[in-house]
Amino acid sequence: MTQNHIRFFDTTLRDGEQSPGCSMTHHEKLALAHSLADLGVDVLEAGFAIASDGDFAAISAVAQEVRGPRVASLARARREDIERAAKAVEKAARPRIHVFLASSDIHLEYKLKITRDEAIEQAAKMVALARTYTDDVEFSPEDSTRTDRDFLCAFVGAAIAAGATTINLPDTVGYATPEEYAAMFRMIRERVPGADRVILSTHCHDDLGLAVANTLAAVQAGARQVECTINGIGERAGNAALEEIAAALHVRGDSYPYQHSLRLDRLYPVSQQLAGTISFGAAPNKAIVGANAFAHEAGIHQHGVLSNPLTYEIMTPVSVGVPANRMVLGKHSGRHALRSRLEELGYRLSAADLDIAYRAFTELADRKKAIYDQDLINLVAHHQRHEDLISTEIREKAVG
Ligand code: KIV
Ligand code: ZN
Repeated sequence: MTQNHIRFFDTTLRDGEQSPGCSMTHHEKLALAHSLADLGVDVLEAGFAIASDGDFAAISAVAQEVRGPRVASLARARREDIERAAKAVEKAARPRIHVFLASSDIHLEYKLKITRDEAIEQAAKMVALARTYTDDVEFSPEDSTRTDRDFLCAFVGAAIAAGATTINLPDTVGYATPEEYAAMFRMIRERVPGADRVILSTHCHDDLGLAVANTLAAVQAGARQVECTINGIGERAGNAALEEIAAALHVRGDSYPYQHSLRLDRLYPVSQQLAGTISFGAAPNKAIVGANAFAHEAGIHQHGVLSNPLTYEIMTPVSVGVPANRMVLGKHSGRHALRSRLEELGYRLSAADLDIAYRAFTELADRKKAIYDQDLINLVAHHQRHEDLISTEIREKAVG
């Protein structure tokens, strides 16, 4: 990995899932985890092991089954959390424990009721404990952006000295501006001993609509891991949207000369899969993956795009996995239409698998007026997890 490699840390299954309307079943989490691995994320935060038995089981299953990304569990800076997180990720090829402890005075005083010194001691002890289970430990001072700067430096320094390998600086309440957030990363790099030995990470919430801007500003200030979610789901106004960060790095490589491991043509299919899993999809005007992201209604725009798409499009829809043809599938659609749509979405099926998928499709079409991409992707993802239907590993046959 080069100095300029940006690691994508996906927290759709943790920060995303813990927000209203976003809960997922065990099978849905696993199916999404596989799709996120196909997308190429570097780290998958699969849940918060101590939060529930369901979360623990889902993290363990992801750790056992999903290969490619590092698999992380969140843990408070408490012994029982860390032991539970360690157990949940123990089968992962590359397990990570993500320990967090609040650092702002408002959290220390009103939520945790501990002093700054006690917080430093607890953070160091718990990071050291996590390191006895894995050599990949991330530490997050929660509410970093509202934390006294001298204390933040001391807190981060103690976590690094105790063995943290990634330091994440969350803008927990979405309060920061891009300039401030970038300055905080520069300050940590300049003032904290050992900061050059760890990966610095962003984690931005979107309360002021600045999550992606803040993320990108921090990358320019030296962050090399970005925490984000598909469709920007997450607590309150959500987290930084993975697809927006990825597209910005791609389209504006002149300003952001960094590498990453994502397959951009998987962005739209994963976004659709998530939309079909939780209780809402991306807003129509959502960048990159919204239904109108590449739609042109005004005559002048239509004329321009027909003459040369570059007049009004800064990236091609196909480059982010949006199918070029806008045919609507329904109960009168045939096998060819289904196959071609699935291929556009990245799934190339054998004749036998197509038969099975077509049967499932017609059953669904009998119940629903129109079948959308998210229905097709979920149909494939669902059957992929149930050997009774699709016989071969469709995921391995994804186009490209
Ligand atoms: O927003 C936040 O501070 C978090 C931490 C637990 C990383 O989600
Ligand atoms: Zn968060």
